[in-house]
Amino acid sequence: MRRRVRSGGHRVDLTTRVGSLQLPNPVMTASGTAGHGTELAAHLDLSSLGAVVVKSLHFEPWAGNPAPRVHATPSGMINSVGLHGPGVAAWLEHDLPSLDETGARVVVSVWGHTVADYAAAAGLLADAPDSVIAVEVNASCPNLEDRRSLFAHSITATTEVVDACRVAGRPLWAKLSPNTPDLPDIASAAVSAGAEAVTIANTVLGMVIDTEARRPLLGAGRGGLSGPAIRPVAVRAVYDTHEAHPDIAIIGVGGITCGDDAAQFLLAGATALQVGTATFADPAAPAKVLADLGRWCDHHGVTKVADLVGGAHG
Ligand SMILES: Cc1cc2nc3c(=O)[nH]c(=O)nc-3n(C[C@H](O)[C@H](O)[C@H](O)COP(=O)(O)O)c2cc1C
Repeated sequence: MRRRVRSGGHRVDLTTRVGSLQLPNPVMTASGTAGHGTELAAHLDLSSLGAVVVKSLHFEPWAGNPAPRVHATPSGMINSVGLHGPGVAAWLEHDLPSLDETGARVVVSVWGHTVADYAAAAGLLADAPDSVIAVEVNASCPNLEDRRSLFAHSITATTEVVDACRVAGRPLWAKLSPNTPDLPDIASAAVSAGAEAVTIANTVLGMVIDTEARRPLLGAGRGGLSGPAIRPVAVRAVYDTHEAHPDIAIIGVGGITCGDDAAQFLLAGATALQVGTATFADPAAPAKVLADLGRWCDHHGVTKVADLVGGAHG
């Protein structure tokens, strides 16, 4: 399906590929910033986006971290939500039906503390409806079997969680961490294990100290930094990965607020994009970024958004 937007005098072809999937445009929600279902539907047409990525789901309900869970930071925010959620089975029963009514293409993010947790969550998705077009494997979670590390900081652990999620029987995307110098190698390992694409990147590890209490401010202590403050980190992570592995499909995410930001990620090597923290300031942000990317292309004489991909590499 070719979807073009009118933006000024020209029509821009916004279609893009992510692995085996053809999407009508490259802009999606980012996991954890658009709820589990139709939370944003009052503010934008969810079916107009490339896809809706829901908040990461554990195989069973998960309570998340103690409050406070979010805090504003310069040009962004820090969170330690701790991946609270209803669990995959309850989500399939209570959230997916209303999402399906919107006509959205749905990407389910899964997480776990162990490889077996990932396999259990992905297994519960094996019989999900066709509206679930892909599973995003959130590998940027603490690995309880190796307390020193996130899964996505290890080639072995990333390989294991992606491989465990094959049981979902649909395209896998691996959501990776920017907090490791080995990101291009880890992206390559994720693809070797069965991922069709990598999502780069999750939040940057951070902390805020409450100087009155003289203690870490977030309930969980450490958190993940997001928003425009991390955009250069995420753009570089995409650029490095594309430079090392130009054939790997990349979904770029980190601080995108407008068409120019989106263009940076495409030029660095992403074929698709996710909008997260911007949604907290404006719940219609993903739709506005999409419209603005169309205008950006029009203004720069770009007729096919796919022509931008990797354009910043010499
Ligand atoms: C409050 C909050 C919750 C998040 N929850 C998840 C999550 O459940 N799963 C996940 O893969 N990423 C999660 N993320 C990370 C975002 O999907 C995204 O990778 C990151 O915030 C960078 O993009 P942004 O700057 O556009 O927000 C969360 C981010 C925020 C701010």
